[in-house]
Amino acid sequence: MRVLLVAPPGAGKGTQGALIATHFNVPHIATGDLLRDHVARQTPLGLAVRAHLDRGELVPDDIVLDMVRDAFLEARDQGGYVLDGMPRNMAQARALYQVGKSLEMTANVALHLKADDDELIRRLLARAALEHRSDDTEEVIRRRLALYHEVTYPIVEWYSSRGILVSVDAMRPVAQVAHQVLTALESMSTLVDLVPENARRSIDLTGLGAAFGDC
Ligand code: AP5
Ligand code: MG
Repeated sequence: MRVLLVAPPGAGKGTQGALIATHFNVPHIATGDLLRDHVARQTPLGLAVRAHLDRGELVPDDIVLDMVRDAFLEARDQGGYVLDGMPRNMAQARALYQVGKSLEMTANVALHLKADDDELIRRLLARAALEHRSDDTEEVIRRRLALYHEVTYPIVEWYSSRGILVSVDAMRPVAQVAHQVLTALESMSTLVDLVPENARRSIDLTGLGAAFGDC
């Protein structure tokens, strides 16, 4: 299964990404985690991107693209991937598609986690009290959200037109979101390699919350 996550800060890319990766036994490639690891190790790349992360700005496209290309090469023989944190803009979406095509690893599903800004701010400020991520201050959280709405959200429409978009309501508790996501992905997993991309249709599960409410 090859899944990429498109979701605002705090919607649960890391949380759900880890659960999906464990369920399908594929690597969880999280661009933010990879970048923070470089910052912590003070590598040349880490020193170059640190200010971008601290301010909540995007790092240059070619940096993340190189990182993800390397991670895809490592993931090649592992049955798929969960990509968390990329693409963040239309240029990245197009470039990622070309990388995927060249490695025969284009995404089967673009999973869109939907949540309101107020809830996202609440979650990230709650995390700030525990984890001290440098970009979890209210000012920087608002900048990250603004960037999401401005340059990331438009790519959702592109995945919808490609027929690989699955949208879920991420306002519910973690276990309920996970149950719905894994049920949907599991039912698609046997089909994704059989149905050509141009014959697929996007799936909007955001209205089905109640049906998944008892888990
Ligand atoms: P990144 O690390 O990707 O951060 P983000 O997009 O801001 O998202 P977060 O990691 O904060 O949230 P999440 O969606 O993973 O939610 P989580 O599961 O943690 O990127 C950081 C920076 O790196 C960027 O700002 C940029 O500078 C750079 N970068 C990364 N990729 C890039 C790219 N492609 N191009 C350019 N720059 C890039 O959950 C959040 C909290 O909520 C947790 O405490 C969790 O326990 C809780 N929670 C999760 N789900 C629920 C739920 N359903 N109910 C209640 N609480 C929940
Ligand atoms: Mg994350």
